[in-house]
Amino acid sequence: MAGSERLALRTLSGQGWVRGSGPAVLSRLRDAAVVRPGFLSAAEEETLSRELEPELRRRRYEYDHWDAAIHGFRETEKSRWSEASRAILQRVQAAAFGPGQTLLSSVHVLDLEPRGYIKPHVDSIKFCGSTIAGLSLLSPSIMRLVHTQEPGAWLELLLEPGSLYILSPDSGLHPPSQAVCLEPGLPSPHPATASVFSRRGSARYDFSHEILRDEESFFGEQRVPRGRRISVICRSLPEGVGPGEPGQRPPAC
Ligand code: OGA
Ligand code: MN
Repeated sequence: MAGSERLALRTLSGQGWVRGSGPAVLSRLRDAAVVRPGFLSAAEEETLSRELEPELRRRRYEYDHWDAAIHGFRETEKSRWSEASRAILQRVQAAAFGPGQTLLSSVHVLDLEPRGYIKPHVDSIKFCGSTIAGLSLLSPSIMRLVHTQEPGAWLELLLEPGSLYILSPDSGLHPPSQAVCLEPGLPSPHPATASVFSRRGSARYDFSHEILRDEESFFGEQRVPRGRRISVICRSLPEGVGPGEPGQRPPAC
């Protein structure tokens, strides 16, 4: 996105980059769903997209059947990066992950075409650990988080190109061993699982996340037209798994 467009969007987003259904959810998730606008410089955005473009272009956009979580996408798992990109990813690691957290050995790169979108889901606890951090490139988008037990509790994140979002359990809470993987349309987690987090709130485990399709892409009153969007997503390793072992990940982790 050109600098002037970015500025225009920033000016329009007078309400900041996070909206919520009410003050309670906003304060509950204040440290668990974080947006850092302008995390990347224009040069860093350019570095990443230039490096990713040739790899992505080799793939076709996929339009899966109705129950798939992601529509109109192509993706890659990337573990070899240029030095310049590695420096950027190290900044992400320092900003989003604790010193004791190990990252998955490959970074998930997801390219959504302008009509592409991601349906509500919770990343599988089998394949991903407690923290998810994503850089957004090219187009702004809206990520919506909805509480899996209380659908009236939601948060929306305005993700501009160059921004970083971080979803984590608040205050170092970890998932209980009986936590379940939520796929779209599946029942809510075991009540005992939910209660573990209910005091503070975990954007990672208690809320589903989605990227809105173009027609629904509004931040409050503000229309946020969706173009092609690339995300670069770093995830921590599930607890108790060695690096590189998680195996094949389903599309929405
Ligand atoms: C996913 C996902 C979000 C993004 O791939 O599981 O939620 O920022 N992606 O692309
Ligand atoms: Mn996800």
